[in-house]
Amino acid sequence: MKVFSKIVDLQNELFEVRKQGHSVGLVPTMGALHEGHASLVRHSVKDNDVTVVSVFVNPTQFNDKNDLKNYPRDLKADCELLEKCKADYVFAPEVEDMYPTPDTRQFEYPPVSTVMEGAHRPGHFNGVCQVVSRLFYIVRPDRAYFGEKDWQQIAVVKAMVRHLDLKVQIVECPIVRDEDGLARSSRNTLLKPEERAIAPKIYEVLKDSVEYSKKHSLKETHDFVVDKINAVDGLDVEYFSIVDGNTLQDLADWDSSDYVVGCITVYCGKTPIRLIDHIKYKES
Ligand code: PAF
Repeated sequence: MKVFSKIVDLQNELFEVRKQGHSVGLVPTMGALHEGHASLVRHSVKDNDVTVVSVFVNPTQFNDKNDLKNYPRDLKADCELLEKCKADYVFAPEVEDMYPTPDTRQFEYPPVSTVMEGAHRPGHFNGVCQVVSRLFYIVRPDRAYFGEKDWQQIAVVKAMVRHLDLKVQIVECPIVRDEDGLARSSRNTLLKPEERAIAPKIYEVLKDSVEYSKKHSLKETHDFVVDKINAVDGLDVEYFSIVDGNTLQDLADWDSSDYVVGCITVYCGKTPIRLIDHIKYKES
């Protein structure tokens, strides 16, 4: 496995790879890698001749300076995991290399980019599109792998790929959970033991709500989730939206769509750590 920090070095290497007719998979990450990332890398290694994993904490997608400062970073541990997963290349650039001049491009893909995370984290998806489009231009992957945990992000990236007419296939990989149901996330490492102990309640309630939804209205199911999670000392729901899986718009009742997803963001603990998750009520 080779580690590159300079764009030109990675591009020279990939030029040779492509000359041999090899396919390239890209797994974009912000590091602090865990089993969720490992599963993306394994998917890519299976599908492509070579796999590039980018490790870059992208400042433009953070709307909160403290969140950026506290974001976990450990390139050495990341490389150890990536070696085990048989990644071929790690691309870990500095901020100045990725953004030699400020990126002033604006990406907006309403309705999918303006609701939920888009509404609660202003500028977040704009920053994600800035960095992901740059990575796509640099690496020119045949396929790029994203985890379903960031479910809305996948919809936004797909909209961007259509808009920019990029020749890359976006591959969605299933969410990876700990044994107690907590969705794997780099932010989980920031949870104190007492916070880690209550965090699985989020998915537990989401799962219970699927059963509950069979005999209750959408509004009742919404309130069931919010009330049950807020009842746990240390958990505070920021939003829970039950949306159409394609447009990501709020639904009024279960019959309005064949593809229904509940998306939640919860603050956990005193710091607090922001956790996101989702559940599918109906899938088309
Ligand atoms: O999902 C993430 O980790 C990030 O948003 C991504 C796609 C690597 C862009 O920085």
